[in-house]
Amino acid sequence: MCAQQTLVAFKPDAIENAVVGQILSRFENEGLQVHEMKTVDVSDELLERHYNEHVGESYYPGLVEYMQERPVIACLLEGEDAVSRVRELLGDTDPAVAEPGTIRGDFGSDSFTEADRDGRAVRNLVHASATTDEAEKEIELWF
Ligand code: CMP
Repeated sequence: MCAQQTLVAFKPDAIENAVVGQILSRFENEGLQVHEMKTVDVSDELLERHYNEHVGESYYPGLVEYMQERPVIACLLEGEDAVSRVRELLGDTDPAVAEPGTIRGDFGSDSFTEADRDGRAVRNLVHASATTDEAEKEIELWF
């Protein structure tokens, strides 16, 4: 167990579906605390740096469009093992596969299959850092 910080970004669909509060409560109910929070108008450059490994993928232009639909809410969460615990609470990246009881399983409705078919990015409510190294880089980038 160790105290960590992680980056969570509430994507446009979480805001549009008015589930930001419910999602945040899930983190807070698990003992994770908000250290900082702000809305961000994400620029092309920020997205290119944040989603570097996705640049060039067929869904990348759709991912940019999705993330720029409206300002997203960036949140710096902290707590014991924050990075892995937030990812566990979120569930699978694909909402169609995410288990009931997880955030994407309960609040998500999109699927990778559908997104691939339409040539767009999958709408999965929240981004969260995958590793402690990634958290460090993303916190530096967003805050
Ligand atoms: P996220 O966890 O924020 O990381 C990259 C994002 O790109 C991912 O959530 C999805 O929104 C999107 N994405 C990743 N892979 C695909 C794919 N194969 N098809 C559509 N969208 C994708």
